[in-house]
Amino acid sequence: MTDPLGRLYGAARAFVGATPALAAFRDLPEAPDRADKAPNPVPALVQLARDVPSGAASGAGAALAEAVVGAADRIDWLLTYTEDQVGADFLARYGWFELLGPTGHFRTDDLVAFVAYWGPGLRYPWHRHAAEEVYAVIDGGCVFEAEGRPARAVTAGDTSHHAPWQAHALRTVDQPVLTLALHAGEGLNDVPELLPDRETGAPR
Ligand SMILES: [Fe+2]
Repeated sequence: MTDPLGRLYGAARAFVGATPALAAFRDLPEAPDRADKAPNPVPALVQLARDVPSGAASGAGAALAEAVVGAADRIDWLLTYTEDQVGADFLARYGWFELLGPTGHFRTDDLVAFVAYWGPGLRYPWHRHAAEEVYAVIDGGCVFEAEGRPARAVTAGDTSHHAPWQAHALRTVDQPVLTLALHAGEGLNDVPELLPDRETGAPR
């Protein structure tokens, strides 16, 4: 697999292997079937190409950041949420894609590996889902919040584990963040349930 998407998959597999909390959760299969998906660009790709890689990541993370940017114009990017749910600014400066999974660019039935990007100053509202999840920061940084523990600022190589149905949220401050996350268990492709905003009490 020497095309941009094949290189991206290989870089993601290496990143999972090099990130202990991901490797302990699941390995990515070596040679999964590949789906023929049409590219779907999103507005955030302009910023992604400008800001990533930032130079702060190293090793497998830097290689993966470069591979995401290198394959960006072939990826089926998704937004999932509506403007009513997350706001227009969020939708203009964020995007994600399913690299591996039941509906991903690469196919497997029992695991999802997805990559997500957020520009600076965005809040991914509190949400929850049946799947167990481990996020890892590829490049940049953000703050993870999860029910039952204090908010934590994370940067390249750091991870955040979310148990099934454990509410969690993510926000970026002064830098963008590029992440890779794994989902396993029930509800692999379910859309997360957004929860009421805990700071303002406003419904989402
Ligand atoms: Fe999540």
